[in-house]
Amino acid sequence: MAQYQSFPDVPGDSHTLDKLKALQLPDLRGRSFLDVGCNEGFFCGFASYQGASRVLGVDHTAGFVERARRRFPACEFLCTDWNHLPDERFDVILLASALHYAEDQPALVHSLVDRLEPDGVLVLEVGIASSPKAEWTRIKRGIDERYFPSMPKLREVLSDYAWKWMGKSVPQAGDPVGRHVIHVSRRRPVAYLLMEPPGYGKSSIARRLFQPAGVPVVSGDELMASVAEGKREAPPKLRDCLAHEYSPFHIDKTIHRAFAAGLGPDLVGLWASQAADADFALDAYVPAEHQQQVVDQLLLLGFLPVKLQWDKVGPRTAASGSQASDAEAFYFSLAGQAAPKVAETDAPATRAAGFVDEVTLDGGCLTVRGWAVSSSGLLPEKMHMHVGARTLVIDRFEKQTRPDVQRHLDLPHALVGFRFSVEVPGVASLAQIVDGFELYDPAGASFRLAGPVAKAFAEAE
Ligand SMILES: C[S@@+](CC[C@H](N)C(=O)[O-])C[C@H]1O[C@@H](n2cnc3c(N)ncnc32)[C@H](O)[C@@H]1O
Repeated sequence: MAQYQSFPDVPGDSHTLDKLKALQLPDLRGRSFLDVGCNEGFFCGFASYQGASRVLGVDHTAGFVERARRRFPACEFLCTDWNHLPDERFDVILLASALHYAEDQPALVHSLVDRLEPDGVLVLEVGIASSPKAEWTRIKRGIDERYFPSMPKLREVLSDYAWKWMGKSVPQAGDPVGRHVIHVSRRRPVAYLLMEPPGYGKSSIARRLFQPAGVPVVSGDELMASVAEGKREAPPKLRDCLAHEYSPFHIDKTIHRAFAAGLGPDLVGLWASQAADADFALDAYVPAEHQQQVVDQLLLLGFLPVKLQWDKVGPRTAASGSQASDAEAFYFSLAGQAAPKVAETDAPATRAAGFVDEVTLDGGCLTVRGWAVSSSGLLPEKMHMHVGARTLVIDRFEKQTRPDVQRHLDLPHALVGFRFSVEVPGVASLAQIVDGFELYDPAGASFRLAGPVAKAFAEAE
């Protein structure tokens, strides 16, 4: 039995130490390691030396296995054919200078990848025949004739995996083909994440980019709707959370509620379950603060998350509050323009309904707040106020929105509030104006005093 591997006590045909360096094995500390066609166990010994958690060497030549056991008693060695490997998974699997011995070379590669842990690496050290075609070339060596793949053929064999050419390996005397090192891992299914806010064009991108490429698009909104409506199964807590006050118009609130309740993993699981472990694109708005959770969860589920980010093009959507107040202000400006015309044409003033909600006196300044609606549903342009012996025309006042009045009177807008301040020299307390105080519209309709105002006047008397 020829000496293949080289040890300090015995040189072999292979420059084993140099080969070990060329292999660029991943860090083996705490990881499990399988060497297929391990020969005298040099690489198993190294794995054990580096702190691998489990080391197994497999070779079908009894003599090599015996020597390996003697050299490295801390490692386990099996004398068996690589077609009968134990049903076990490993973090790192090595197949060095041995693929050409396999009857079905692609089948051996696939069976080794199948034995990798999810993020495991198969380290292949193989001879590659020089040919631009995807073919196996039968090559005569000093000892025998074997088939070696060309690079295009190897690409074909590895097409379902993620792999990287790591560089050339050490040549051996009489080598008819160059040796190369390739690291292979199982390709994680890709989850393309389109999580930008509504209005960013997520669905169009999904339609135009992913659907034509045959990547299924999972619509987060549709899934949540079908769970909320009881049309689809989901974990009970998630189902209850999604169903609670569900509205397709407030999907962002629903998502936020689910994440805030710690149901992010369930929600991501629901989305991912549609992909059946294959590539998919997720079309679902996820608030920025929860996006990392989506990424982490998909990693745990075995996907490769790819987050797509882009800027929104076109006008910005105004914050909902500011847009509403602009709308109210616009409506009010329309009302403000119409009122003077009525006065100019001496049209009869319409009678208003109104309330005085607050009257305060501070340092000779009287401030009045309330609301009023003319029969045309608008805030009157003018009011009259009796205070003490004086009658004042109030035509400059702050206009305020009063959603409470709008709701109460079923008005089409809320711009019916007013607030104004007037100087009342010589008036030091409310008691001085109790008798003569009145606010009324130009047609003479008096505004009622709200309970607290009436009470304040009563107490001042
Ligand atoms: C050229 S040596 C390479 C040894 C070692 N991997 C290295 O690179 O130093 C090939 C090894 O594969 C083993 N081998 C060949 N066919 C095998 C098979 N069907 N099952 C298990 N081992 C096999 C041989 O016994 C031999 O030890």
